[in-house]
Amino acid sequence: APQAIIAPSILSADFANLGEDCRRTISQGADWLHVDIMDGHFVPNLTFGPPVVAKIRSHVEKPTESHGKGTFDCHMMIAEPKKWVKEFKNAGCDLYCFHYEAAHSSAAESPETTSELRTSPRELIRYIHDNGMLAGIAIKPTTKIDVLWDVLDSPHDKERPDMVLVMTVEPGFGGQKFMASELPKVEALRQRYPELNIEVDGGLGPGTIDQAADAGANVIVAGSAVFGARDPAEVISLLRSAVNS
Ligand code: DX5
Ligand code: ZN
Repeated sequence: APQAIIAPSILSADFANLGEDCRRTISQGADWLHVDIMDGHFVPNLTFGPPVVAKIRSHVEKPTESHGKGTFDCHMMIAEPKKWVKEFKNAGCDLYCFHYEAAHSSAAESPETTSELRTSPRELIRYIHDNGMLAGIAIKPTTKIDVLWDVLDSPHDKERPDMVLVMTVEPGFGGQKFMASELPKVEALRQRYPELNIEVDGGLGPGTIDQAADAGANVIVAGSAVFGARDPAEVISLLRSAVNS
């Protein structure tokens, strides 16, 4: 499996000191920043949008290579993922991770959605790549893993995701309990795609990392476990060793 990538979720940072918290977590050993974007519609919670992302971008050095340190991993918990691609690119997003359910839902197909916003996962991944970002695709706990084979097995490079995010909680809030029931999805992905970046998000910390690492996850999101720790650097390094061992 690929090397560990540790991505603290800034949902658990101090929003009144976001720039400094972002800078600090990178200096404590984090690889990426996991940036949770919620629209109060796809999930029952609201966070922030492009102007805030652009502001914090200036506190963290831009990655010099794809997947490099300082990558802004934007987890788009929004109902119309295609609509925001260009704005997040301009705000400094490096990896745009949309939800399969949003690109492929009744919302995406509803009469209120204008035709230019209707999209298939393959088309959306291509569009994200054409806009100069890495592309991720996320699935909620109730979504079956089989829906991802279509994009992962696409014969076109531009239609294949750079990362798959398997949610290990219902998206919407930090600090929830890890759902080990989602790990068979990670195992199935790892078996088929030895080099794929597989991200897990929700309830990860010292008590749950071993299960996730054994299943084959290598991109580890942790919000409360990192920002709530007395020694965040120690937690980051513990998460990394569990994956790399
Ligand atoms: C939940 C978010 C997560 C969240 C994780 O919808 O996607 O990224 O911040 O928080 P913890 O690590 O505290 O479960
Ligand atoms: Zn997230």
